[in-house]
Amino acid sequence: MARRLGNMAGVSGHVAPILENAKLKFEEKFGELPAYAAVAPGRVNLIGEHTDYNGGFVFPMAVPMVTVVVGRESQDGKSQVYTMSDAADEPRLVEFVVKDGLQPGTPKWANYVKGVIANFHEPVKEFQAVIITSVPLGGGLSSSASLEVAFYTFLEALMKSNASSLTEKALKCQKAEHDFAGMPCGIMDQFIAVMAKHGHALLLDCRSMDWEQVPLNDPDIAILVTNSNVRHELSGSEYPERRKHCEEVAQVFGVKSLRELSVQQLDEKAGVLDPKKLQRARHVITEIERTSKAADALKLKDYNQFGKLMVESHESLRDDYEVSCKELDELVNAAIEVDGVYGSRMTGGGFGGCTVTLLKRSSVEGVISHIQSKYKKGATFFICQPVEGAKVIEI
Ligand code: ADP
Ligand code: GAL
Repeated sequence: MARRLGNMAGVSGHVAPILENAKLKFEEKFGELPAYAAVAPGRVNLIGEHTDYNGGFVFPMAVPMVTVVVGRESQDGKSQVYTMSDAADEPRLVEFVVKDGLQPGTPKWANYVKGVIANFHEPVKEFQAVIITSVPLGGGLSSSASLEVAFYTFLEALMKSNASSLTEKALKCQKAEHDFAGMPCGIMDQFIAVMAKHGHALLLDCRSMDWEQVPLNDPDIAILVTNSNVRHELSGSEYPERRKHCEEVAQVFGVKSLRELSVQQLDEKAGVLDPKKLQRARHVITEIERTSKAADALKLKDYNQFGKLMVESHESLRDDYEVSCKELDELVNAAIEVDGVYGSRMTGGGFGGCTVTLLKRSSVEGVISHIQSKYKKGATFFICQPVEGAKVIEI
């Protein structure tokens, strides 16, 4: 047992148990211990939703739910990857030969892995790997970016070669998702999984790619993530459509992205724009402004202001962008009824998944029991502190 536990010094409490499980599974599947391990976190976005692909601001933090990849070089000229996640589609063991070239296919989960290999900054040698995660799959906490970034980091250890910059690493993982999973996502999820800093939220300007780490470590404050445990089918098709509509509005104004526009400019052309597209653009423009204000409020520890902006963000996502759903609205409405809650909103792409609530630490239990009494579909709760981004783990 001592041999298996290895040197766990420096491995955070939220990583250690799942790392151990992954190592045991690797030995069971492949008959020896892994040589390399890497970890990357999931994320919750505090505010700045559907702004990343519009050149706007986002303000996420990494959560202590993580994906771990363990593995080693293969001896037999082929690669094998096993996911321990029950929620992934079957089969959970895939085999391929990297040097023959990789194409997206089934199972779907393996496309994230293949996409990362195909976008790695140099040719990858054959390997065996096991994936384990504590991020709920499809729960809006970005299990997919967590997988991509953990896998990229594992390959960096395997190949003893780092991406030329952390921004390049995030962009490669985003491209993996575009090319192999067919999801035209923005950069937020991969960026926070790579760059996150313990005890901080990250304000990212998706136009300039400048970022700032903002302290979020007040012991009197809690971030409560509530999983609605619903995922509506719409989530797949509506995202690309929203993105396209935003780009079309930007084109009408002859600008590169909605970041360049004000609400006043938008209103001036209200008559010629399709009303739905007008609504979408209004959400984006106002959300970019809210996000910038929210970051300022957090720096001043003005939690009342931050919470107010969160609620406005939710309303805008619900009414203008139309990506909320009954369950998310119920969770937000229940949360903001309780004393000690500053604000609450849906987080991530929408149509299910999670809400994020900023509240007094002393109010956490009261909020959870109030939500439980009001929300009948069975919510799951995570009290989160911001954790650090991806890294190689010495094993
Ligand atoms: P999320 O908000 O969790 O990122 P997505 O629908 O974008 O939701 O991505 C979830 C998909 O990512 C899963 O259906 C699966 O295909 C893949 N995935 C994420 N984590 C894992 C994992 N640990 N093992 C296998 N597949 C995973
Ligand atoms: C996510 C997507 C992000 C971001 C977010 C909405 O699902 O991956 O890039 O656009 O939706 O803010």
